[in-house]
Amino acid sequence: MCGIVGAISQRPVRPILLEALRRLEYRGYDSSGLVTIQNGSFQWDKRPGKIRVLEDHLKGKNWNGHIGLGHTRWATHGPPTRDNAHPHFSCDEKIALVHNGIIENYESLKENLIRRGHQFRSETDTEIIAHLIEEHAKKNKPFVAVQKAIKELEGSFALGVMFRDHPDLLIGARLNSPLVVGIGRNENFIASDVPALLPFTKKVIYLNENEMVQLQRDRVTVSDLNGRVKRRPPTTITWDITSAEKEGYPHFMLKEIFEQPRAVKTTTGYYVNRKKSCTEFAALKPVLKKLNKINRVIITACGTAWHAGLVGKYALEELTRLPVDVAIASEFRYGNPVLNKNTLVLAISQSGETADTLAAVRQANEHGALTLAICNVVGSSITREAKATIYTYAGPEISVASTKAYTSQLTLILLLAIYLGRARKTITKQSETKMIREFLTLPKKIEAVLKTDQLIDKCAAQYRDAPNFMYIGRRYNFPNAYEGALKLKEISYTHAEGYGAGEMKHGPLALVDNTFPTVAIAVQSSVHEKMVSNIQEIKARSGIIIAITTEGDKAIDHLADCIITVPETSEMFSPILTVIPLQLLAYHMAVKKGCPIDQPRNLAKSVTVE
Ligand code: M6R
Repeated sequence: MCGIVGAISQRPVRPILLEALRRLEYRGYDSSGLVTIQNGSFQWDKRPGKIRVLEDHLKGKNWNGHIGLGHTRWATHGPPTRDNAHPHFSCDEKIALVHNGIIENYESLKENLIRRGHQFRSETDTEIIAHLIEEHAKKNKPFVAVQKAIKELEGSFALGVMFRDHPDLLIGARLNSPLVVGIGRNENFIASDVPALLPFTKKVIYLNENEMVQLQRDRVTVSDLNGRVKRRPPTTITWDITSAEKEGYPHFMLKEIFEQPRAVKTTTGYYVNRKKSCTEFAALKPVLKKLNKINRVIITACGTAWHAGLVGKYALEELTRLPVDVAIASEFRYGNPVLNKNTLVLAISQSGETADTLAAVRQANEHGALTLAICNVVGSSITREAKATIYTYAGPEISVASTKAYTSQLTLILLLAIYLGRARKTITKQSETKMIREFLTLPKKIEAVLKTDQLIDKCAAQYRDAPNFMYIGRRYNFPNAYEGALKLKEISYTHAEGYGAGEMKHGPLALVDNTFPTVAIAVQSSVHEKMVSNIQEIKARSGIIIAITTEGDKAIDHLADCIITVPETSEMFSPILTVIPLQLLAYHMAVKKGCPIDQPRNLAKSVTVE
């Protein structure tokens, strides 16, 4: 999704803005632009394509402005052209603006503005905001003009605004799209996400919904939309800039796959008391009374996080005996779900900014349900809306394809299931101890799985040209069939489908011939024999089998064309191990096909629009 950066400083801001924009590239974009003010006029450029295209055009231009805005655009209204890229300007070219999000009522506003004589240069919804502010600026000072314009807008958005004749003021606003303020020494910043700010400061203020900010070099003023000033002490970011860098890996995705032992270990460390071999969830204390009264769980999420929810359903039902439904957030929000104060709505999101998941949490709150977020980004929108949040500690995930966030989500939801099982007395202390001891071995086992990387690379080389893949699994590993297929589609642009293995004979088996690969997750489990039968059915039709099995298990050797093994663990925890070969397979296929890996076409890291 679009990325906003802004800076006001005692030094020239162009290099700051470019550096910050590069750190937002992971969000996905198709054009970029930049504007500064120098000697009373705007200096700007914007270009379709990658940031380096913009940089090439900036070479030789001597811009030394001390205030500026930058933007990466992910097209929603109008294709990725130079005209549609941000910044956008008012007719009188006194106002420059960058925007993330969607203005829902832009057509009616545009008609009005055209009637008042405004001329538009782009097809975007964004441009109307610049013209609207221009109208209000005729009678008002800059901040009030922006305020009044915002009140006419419907939708979800974050803005950065500059006035040519006020080079000492940068204005930001947040209405349902993220915006973070960075506090520096004699310089201040805004950005859509923290990694953009880290080279310059670790002191940040996460703007709340419906807040605005005025930045001067030496002052930051946060207020509500009516201008009432709010005291917002800054938070210090504890993670380092290197967490948001590749550290020698060719791609963030590969780095993040290899960070999984650490991500799972850190997340486990926050919720497990090693000495007592039990789970502890201090963050749930404020909602404990309500939690004890729940009689039903609905998990809601999108994409990979939804797959984590599907695994969570098996574990929660097994360990707590509560009924659990899992709903894709975009369906949940427009459905008419039966919710009450005894329903726990568990929202899972890496970014905490996914528009559909956020809307689902709001809807659940409105119906009086208890909302709990599982999230990776501290202070993100979903964490503010949910009644309580438990965090995954995966560290920043930059690659669009979610990997370490997924295994951290699995970690947390499994630990939560154990915790609730104990709280509801549906599992014994002994089983908790046994499970926790087993859980603590997982990081080492993930390390062992990562050692199969070269084998998986060879397997990818063998099947790189297959146009279609099937992924199958059962029970706890059924969601990983979806996840493996999603990873492959997303980064290698190869069509893939995930299926419950038992469903093959109800239709998909018709696809199988000697050119068609099926990735079968067939580790030791209660459904192992069933999986072997399903694999046999495919083999009997000459299908190609890539199997994920348990170390030492020979049952599938004679059926599989390629076997990748993972260490033994309980069926319930096995998805944390079996997903890793699937991530690596997708990665190597995509590399071999020359795909861009970290920023797949048409996709964005945080999906902040519907
Ligand atoms: O930030 P979220 O976890 O809410 O994101 C949800 C999905 O957009 C995300 O998991 C998406 O499916 C990934 N690109 C998958 O790799």
